[in-house]
Amino acid sequence: MTWTASAPSNIALIKYMGKEGANQSVNPSLSMTLSAFRSTVEIERRKEGPDQWQPLPGSSPLRAESTARFLEFFQKLKGEVPGSFLLRSGNNFPSDAGLASSASSFAALTLAAHTAFADIRGLPIPPAEELARISRSGSGSSCRSFFSPWCAWEGDKIGPLPSRLPDLVDLVVVVDHAHKKVSSSEAHRRVRTSPLFADRVPRAQQRMQAMRQALASGDYRATAEISWAELWDMHSLFHTSTPPFFYFAPGTLAVLRWAEDFWEKHGHGPITTIDAGPNVHLLVPAEETARFRAELKDFQILESGA
Ligand code: DP6
Repeated sequence: MTWTASAPSNIALIKYMGKEGANQSVNPSLSMTLSAFRSTVEIERRKEGPDQWQPLPGSSPLRAESTARFLEFFQKLKGEVPGSFLLRSGNNFPSDAGLASSASSFAALTLAAHTAFADIRGLPIPPAEELARISRSGSGSSCRSFFSPWCAWEGDKIGPLPSRLPDLVDLVVVVDHAHKKVSSSEAHRRVRTSPLFADRVPRAQQRMQAMRQALASGDYRATAEISWAELWDMHSLFHTSTPPFFYFAPGTLAVLRWAEDFWEKHGHGPITTIDAGPNVHLLVPAEETARFRAELKDFQILESGA
């Protein structure tokens, strides 16, 4: 018997950075779901043997520590369910594009495992908010993949967020393919050593409130301004940690400068953000996608709507 589930990735505009315990974020965060960037997890029940992981056909193998983390979380989800399982997973976006895959893969694993175990036990699948809370303990950002197009995560509350913004498309400018040297889990630990961390939580809380209002009233410009400030805030934490670390590549700065100049010239531009990586996410109104893609024709672009 085999069960399959898929889940989308998401991009945070207010960042989850700094955590306690089982991925309890120290501050609220907010994201747009990226429905085109998905992970799929297949779970097959077998007669015996240890639980195992394999890539889905055509997908890349995971690194050893990622496989261990994935299987460890599966053991936790499995609890007392008897039997042996073979997990297969893969992403529909390139693994070397520097896009975080833990959000979509842990969300898909949580959903696939609960689909399988609900079926085996003859019980209903838990509602999305509960699945999101469970998934959070595997990888924090994955909890925001259960609500679309916008999701807020504040403490134990994870849910949809009202927005009157136009439909947006995320244009991911891929400037570097290298595997990141500092994992986001390590970044969560290290930012606590930054002198800027002392006031990080109130700063993020204020921005969260301001961005909630900006989304609710459809204020595109305010959303872009808050997102820009938040991107520099998170990366400044990285740059001032002990030891300091950074994700920017030369192309990252080129795209940030381009975005700044675009806003200055046109009084309009993309909502810009960067995760724990070098690639730049430009969220633009869906109906202006072609215009922005033409402006960025010299770069490799991946595209997803909400
Ligand atoms: C920079 O969810 O990858 O993308 O909970 O340790 O798995 P773990 O961390 P993870 O952290 C993501 C951090 C971020 C910002 C964000 O998505 O909010």
